[in-house]
Amino acid sequence: MCGIVGFVSDKKIKVSDLILGLKKLEYRGYDSSGIAYNCDNKIKYIKKTGRISELEKVALDHNLLEEPFYCGIAHTRWATHGMVSEQNSHPHMDCKEQFAVIHNGIIENFQELKNQLEDRGHVFKSQTDSEVIVHLIEENFKKDLLQAVLATLNLLKGTYAIAVMHKDSPNEIIAARKGSPLVVSNIEGISMLASDVTPLLKYSKDMLFLNDGEVAVLTPNKYYIYDLEGKPIHRNPTKIFWDESLAEKSGYPHFMLKEIFEQPHSLKSALVGRLVNGEPQIQEIKYLYDFVKNKMNKIYVVACGTSYHAGVATKYFVNKYSNIDFEIEVASEFRYMNPQVDDRTLVLAISQSGETIDTLEGVRIAKNKGAFVLAISNVVGSTISRESDAVLYMNTGPEIGVAATKTYTAQIALLYTLASQIIYWKYGKNNEIEKVLKEIEKVPKIYEELLNNTNGHMMELVKKYKNFKDMMYIGRNFGYPAAMEGALKLKEISYINAIAYQAGELKHGPIALLDENFPVFAIVPFGGLRDKMISNIMEVKARGAKVIVLVSKEDTQTKKIADDFIDVPIVSEPLLPLIVAPLTQLFAYYIAIEKHLDPDKPRNLAKSVTVE
Ligand code: AGP
Ligand code: GLU
Repeated sequence: MCGIVGFVSDKKIKVSDLILGLKKLEYRGYDSSGIAYNCDNKIKYIKKTGRISELEKVALDHNLLEEPFYCGIAHTRWATHGMVSEQNSHPHMDCKEQFAVIHNGIIENFQELKNQLEDRGHVFKSQTDSEVIVHLIEENFKKDLLQAVLATLNLLKGTYAIAVMHKDSPNEIIAARKGSPLVVSNIEGISMLASDVTPLLKYSKDMLFLNDGEVAVLTPNKYYIYDLEGKPIHRNPTKIFWDESLAEKSGYPHFMLKEIFEQPHSLKSALVGRLVNGEPQIQEIKYLYDFVKNKMNKIYVVACGTSYHAGVATKYFVNKYSNIDFEIEVASEFRYMNPQVDDRTLVLAISQSGETIDTLEGVRIAKNKGAFVLAISNVVGSTISRESDAVLYMNTGPEIGVAATKTYTAQIALLYTLASQIIYWKYGKNNEIEKVLKEIEKVPKIYEELLNNTNGHMMELVKKYKNFKDMMYIGRNFGYPAAMEGALKLKEISYINAIAYQAGELKHGPIALLDENFPVFAIVPFGGLRDKMISNIMEVKARGAKVIVLVSKEDTQTKKIADDFIDVPIVSEPLLPLIVAPLTQLFAYYIAIEKHLDPDKPRNLAKSVTVE
């Protein structure tokens, strides 16, 4: 995920206008940024790593802030392919610097395209996937920029929002969208585009949100929309009434809620090119085949907090479908133990931020002991991803809310896909796993329905339970990590003492806590251990505690014995933590809101825990 912005105007625009636009999009990505603009039929550009303020400093130092132009594009990057560096920052240029392109998304077939382009003599300056786009446009350009872009788009697989300019067309920007957001607008001699409405609200309230497969030609007086075959499309813009600060959160009152609602999209992004029609195809780790097949005898997860919970779900997955030895430890313990890892161990260091100091130390210890360390992180270039032997990025875009939401679900989906690839390598293909993987591909759709239909009922529950001081979450098997994560979300942002237990452990102590003031959230499986869970619910009820069940819609028997219920769509057992997560996230979020707490900035917590 990144932010893109562009203007084409019949009046003069300045570099500072583009920088201001980028600043509004900085929440979308901020590892590096760059702008390109047309000056007397020559493309000028500046790029800089770090925050937008660093780019602004460069512009200031070179007296460029006030430099006027009529056509320019700008990008703030959230790297997916290639390290954070000036060379990898956008805009990217072709061999002769005639075209400039900015891109948000992932070009899945970039390697194949790059090889072909290099064979035909193109010279690449970056390691990004995005650069292929500009070289393809260079090749496809005859006289008409739109035709060159259309011909190029037909060659791309993956996701994109792009903006393209040509040195000899100072009155034109071409933009296109597939899978990454893009909005265009026009007012009084200026057309503009951006990843979301925030940078544009200053100029206009009439926005046209491009659909996938649409291409826009922006000229100062008007923009034109086409389909991928170049046929014109006529659609009216939408009027936006948000103020600018609301717009940064795309209209959501908090980043956490926005990120919860982003999950249909972020889950897809995490899996693009990695899970294809039920097949695990993680290209990034292809070279590990020999190690996994012939040498690896153990997987060991090191992580903290929510990332640890994703690891626990993965442990149940690997355990269900293989005999691979799987250990997991929270990083703060791992680093002071004598962890049993050696050169036959694959260590998975899971960290959204990639900066958590305990996990980082775990990585160092594991490497010292000869293990192969694979990081799972959301932040390109983060310390853990750099110090590990290899890295898989979650590709969810920045997560701003302190409570992890979209990165948790992306982690589980990605880890299941990774685990499946490893199991296939070791034991061959497995039909049961394939069924689960095919279901994972359907989860974004299930999320959409879930997120759009839970609100009313959820609010009733929130009002009923918000004043309790304690709450217990119980689950079995795959329901257990779901319970742990539900409890963590609630305690982090609502300050309710929420604890999680394996339902079978209740009788070994925690049940002593329960009475009418201590409600219990029970995550009820769809088959298998369902009856065992019902027995646990009965035990809880016998102590006078209220029970909220997260249960399938059809399970009327369990609903009858519970005090309250939340419907969960039926999926295969391993998907339980994935399906339950948005519901427990929303419950925690709305409790915090009802208690007038700020869910984005919970007390005592930080997004990136770089101290021990
Ligand atoms: C999650 O909501 C928490 N903010 C916290 O538990 C977090 O998951 C933990 O600090 C680990 O962070 P990491 O994934 O960035 O390493
Ligand atoms: N895949 C591109 C890159 O790594 C674009 C990433 C983005 O959306 O910021 O540069």
